[in-house]
Amino acid sequence: MKTKNQKLLSWVDEIARLCKPDAIHWCDGSRAEYDSLFKAMVAAGAATPLEKRPNSFLFRSDPSDVARVEDRTYIASKTQAEAGPTNNWIDPVELKKTMAGLYDGCMKGRTLYVIPFSMGPVGSPIAKIGVEITDSPYVVVNMHIMTRVGDKVIETLGDDGEFIPCLHSVGAPLEPGQTDVPWPCAPMEKKYIAHFPEENLIWSYGSGYGGNALLGKKCLALRIASNMARHEGWMAEHMLILRLTNPEGKRFHIAAAFPSACGKTNLAMLQPTLPGWKCECVGDDIAWMKIRPDGRLHAINPEAGFFGVAPGTSYETNPMAMDSIRENSIFTNCVLTDDSDVWWEDMNVECKHGIDWKGRDWTPGQKDADGKPIKGAHPNARFTAPAAQCPVICPDWEDPDGVPIDIFVFGGRRTKLVPLVTQAFDWDHGVYMGATAASEATAAALDVKKAIRRDPMAMLPFCGYHIGDYWQHWFDMGDRLGEKAPQIFYVNWFRKSPDGQWLWPGFGENSRVLKWMCERLEGKADGVETPVGIVPKAGELDVSGLEISNAEIAELLRIDEEGWKSEVPEIEEFLNKAGDRLPARMKNQLAELKKRVGLG
Ligand code: GTP
Ligand code: SPV
Ligand code: MN
Repeated sequence: MKTKNQKLLSWVDEIARLCKPDAIHWCDGSRAEYDSLFKAMVAAGAATPLEKRPNSFLFRSDPSDVARVEDRTYIASKTQAEAGPTNNWIDPVELKKTMAGLYDGCMKGRTLYVIPFSMGPVGSPIAKIGVEITDSPYVVVNMHIMTRVGDKVIETLGDDGEFIPCLHSVGAPLEPGQTDVPWPCAPMEKKYIAHFPEENLIWSYGSGYGGNALLGKKCLALRIASNMARHEGWMAEHMLILRLTNPEGKRFHIAAAFPSACGKTNLAMLQPTLPGWKCECVGDDIAWMKIRPDGRLHAINPEAGFFGVAPGTSYETNPMAMDSIRENSIFTNCVLTDDSDVWWEDMNVECKHGIDWKGRDWTPGQKDADGKPIKGAHPNARFTAPAAQCPVICPDWEDPDGVPIDIFVFGGRRTKLVPLVTQAFDWDHGVYMGATAASEATAAALDVKKAIRRDPMAMLPFCGYHIGDYWQHWFDMGDRLGEKAPQIFYVNWFRKSPDGQWLWPGFGENSRVLKWMCERLEGKADGVETPVGIVPKAGELDVSGLEISNAEIAELLRIDEEGWKSEVPEIEEFLNKAGDRLPARMKNQLAELKKRVGLG
């Protein structure tokens, strides 16, 4: 379908003149388009078809281009103050000059694809339209799965509808006669993942991987959307969404924010081990939430697919993800097995031999020159799969009105100190808990140096404006929601014993923790107040059928007051980075905590 949207036509024209591609292709989102792109990528040696999984393909990225690059991600607002202390700020005028220089002729020898996409069900009052221009066919096929692409979007956009322009190039023009590499990209110092929040504009250059290149995801649905949400009075959060139904048939909708590679996809598809409990997945990474006419906060999943961490995914840990990726899926940086399937570490199936993510002959247990085992899959290897293929996808996952949220959960990866679960005393305390969430570094971003870092609401790399204003927005939303605000909890599945074993079995057993949350909401569990929040009273956490000692449970729920005290100076320093934009209510929360742990 040809658009008559003048703004879109002239933007595409302007970009084509700048990037100088050999051809322009308007994506219609059809199966035929998807198939022909794959045919070409297989012929070019960029994609490998998998005989064991119908209509599925493996890609290997360049070894330098394997994850988000936070050091090269910018918020180019007019002033540095708007971006705040947690973002890389750069002057928009200067950055546009630099990037226009890079974009000049960057698509020579390549096709420019125009991808009209909707974040959220097409036409939902919570959805938004974006258009990504890219020279990467890998991006196009991934966007086909991760978003709603094509003619129906053009139709909804109409002649004068608004869209968010997202420009992407791998930054690797081809000279006449030059053969392409399997994964073109630009060197690190030329990579830019740039956001212009005052214009709702995204410019990305030099990387083809994940959130750097699939611009609907982190760039639009979080960094740009969080800024729009603040101005328009809604929320764009790095949260999974699930529906939990108890044995009596009562439904609870839970949205949980954990940092990258800290368990969102797993929790979103949880298979409760408790009899009679049922879990259905609405989304695994991002939630857009608005207060609807019933006064409650309703959430939609703006995405249409999962871009999930492969290593660790198995029929034991996440069977619903395993079933979601049996066909029509894209794999990046996994092992290619000799029988033409994919494999990764902790998949819990045998692989005797294969080709590793770097394209080398590989045998499990193989060691490098220093005697360290060589991993077959990259730790941030990913699968891309249609959400509709998840056997426990919620029947209402595409409801344009979203699902009403009862519970917010924050969390992170902490081997010590942080208990299995705590409930906030009230909304303000919950906002404080979220703001001071911390986690150990993972493979989801390339350049995180700190062992443990504060990752407020799991939004540190994704909040598109000043973090102090973001916290104030949370307080304001709480005021508007009043009695109808979700209850807030904090979890940590990742405690370890001194000998390095997981203290909590995790995965499906996390349903026991969710059950306690629901019981708190229904007034069926008392909990005990501690200086850091409310924890389950002895015997309240349902561990029936689980092999775990009372001493281990006590350890998981123990509050180490000295340990918490020792974190306070670092927490205070972190909050104070917000300077004069640190909300008074956040200061108050810190003061109250100090008093409760005997520091004030
Ligand atoms: P992003 O897609 O990067 O946002 O990650 P995510 O938050 O969706 O994390 P995901 O669910 O993919 O889990 C990341 C890793 O943590 C995987 O290797 C999982 O196996 C592991 N994991 C998830 N849940 C648990 C749990 O309850 N216990 C333990 N021990 N590991 C878990
Ligand atoms: C994350 O890092 O939180 C992800 C993966 O979900 S990416 O899409 O690459 O950002
Ligand atoms: Mn994520």
